Amino acid sequence: MPYLNAVCCETLRIYPVVLIVSPREAKKTITIMGQEYPVGTALTPCIYLTHHREDLYPEPEKFKPERFLERQYSAYEFLPFGGTNRRCIGAAFAMFEMKLVLATILRHYNLALADKQPVKPVRRGVTLAPAGGVKMVMTGKRMQVETKSPSVATV
Ligand code: HEM
Repeated sequence: MPYLNAVCCETLRIYPVVLIVSPREAKKTITIMGQEYPVGTALTPCIYLTHHREDLYPEPEKFKPERFLERQYSAYEFLPFGGTNRRCIGAAFAMFEMKLVLATILRHYNLALADKQPVKPVRRGVTLAPAGGVKMVMTGKRMQVETKSPSVATV
């Protein structure tokens, strides 16, 4: 399960579904990385650019789920669901659903990519998606390992 979580996080890092968060307005003058933004400035943090920063994610173009096992990223470094008080309300549900679907499919079937060509991401409005979907073929069924359920004492 920790590796499944890491795979989901790395997928959301390298190709965040939502590229930018909703715009924020500076209520007071703020300075970010040496750049001053006066009151009223509309700021639109870019999830994609943050997730591709080399100083945070060495070799950012490489799919490496292990990074999420090796260190804990802060809410300012890893933000596929945005942040602060407007953070995605469905974040926990989306992560749970993602892992449940993947674990259920992979428990029963072996899959392989139907096409060996790299999957290209395309922008659709503020979202990112695979250009032509990700076609897969089922190469076999997984053997189910029988586990004996512990005997339950009836009262
Ligand atoms: C992988 C799936 C999803 C991703 C990557 C995602 C990402 C995001 C992002 C980046 C925002 C903007 C947050 C911000 O501005 O700081 C957002 C807002 C929102 N999301 Fe999601 N979302 C996902 C799934 C869902 C689901 C399943 C639901 C509902 C069940 C949902 C409901 C919402 C709502 C209502 C907002 C607006 C929150 C607000 O403005 O207060 N999202 N989401």
